Amino acid sequence: MTAPALQAAHGLAGAIAFHDSELGGPVAHLSSAHGTALVALQGAQVLSYVPRGGTEVLWLSPMARLGTAKAVRGGIPVCWPWFGPHPTDPRQPAHGLVRSLCWRVVETAVHGHAVRVRFVSTLETATAGFPAGLSAQLDVTLGEELALDLVTINDGDEAIELTQALHTYLKVGDIGSVTVAGLHGRPYVDQLEPPGQRRGARKLQTGLVVFEGEVDRIYATGDPIATVLDPLLGRRIVVDTDGSASTVVWNPWIEKAARLGDVGPDGYRAFVCIETANAGADVRTIQPGAAHRLTAMIHAATAAASGAGGLNPEAS
Ligand code: BG6
Repeated sequence: MTAPALQAAHGLAGAIAFHDSELGGPVAHLSSAHGTALVALQGAQVLSYVPRGGTEVLWLSPMARLGTAKAVRGGIPVCWPWFGPHPTDPRQPAHGLVRSLCWRVVETAVHGHAVRVRFVSTLETATAGFPAGLSAQLDVTLGEELALDLVTINDGDEAIELTQALHTYLKVGDIGSVTVAGLHGRPYVDQLEPPGQRRGARKLQTGLVVFEGEVDRIYATGDPIATVLDPLLGRRIVVDTDGSASTVVWNPWIEKAARLGDVGPDGYRAFVCIETANAGADVRTIQPGAAHRLTAMIHAATAAASGAGGLNPEAS
């Protein structure tokens, strides 16, 4: 659907507008008393979130372009129906099938000051071991926080095994001064060790997560709430979740960023990924007729607004 057709079918005056973005494809622009958000139809990928009175929460590559076969780096890519490499077939793309596909808009709504867009992507044919008809539905809700609800609906005849992530790129002042609270005492798989094809050393987090080189970890998190503490931007970003028992923390650092090619000079210093996931051992089996919901709630507050604790990690 073109942006004018989307606007005619789903635009809501003063709340949701569809237009062609300068990145080269249609986007939904959400606005409410709580702020603004921008979501590309490609990948149902949130590209921007600015809470009222605040600044941009998400990092987006300066090289981001819509409408190419390559997934856009930045914002919140949806990795579905698998996270990372395909479980059995190395020829399949990393992070699933829907990052560069155009999703359908099926509904827009306003509830009080909250604004919501619902996107759906359905597998047309059986692909990579997943049955035709398998659907992902993503609700993006701009309210007091930004909420993403990713619902997988298995209308087929067989159970499926699902891994996935809401691969959130959070904008930070400088990665070297950022810490992540909320993961103390959690076991994680270090995807960088030992080096080689089959990686995954098991470790235990002590204290805050700090960044002094590449970090690529899948934390097993019973009730995960990760908080990014950013003294340079003077804010904390809380990522609360539901339907997830795993959180991925990733920063590519210098060499991997250079290999990726779309991070930009020193771009790795400007983001940290806190990914709300079902990943690693957190594989979900979805029976025929059943559904699974994965939710990420992203809340940003300035140090002054985040209570007496400010950026004190003990207060998180
Ligand atoms: C992270 C993975 O989720 O995504 C990393 O843990 C990976 O291993 C990163 O490098 C980026 O993946 P991609 O496919 O967007 O380059």
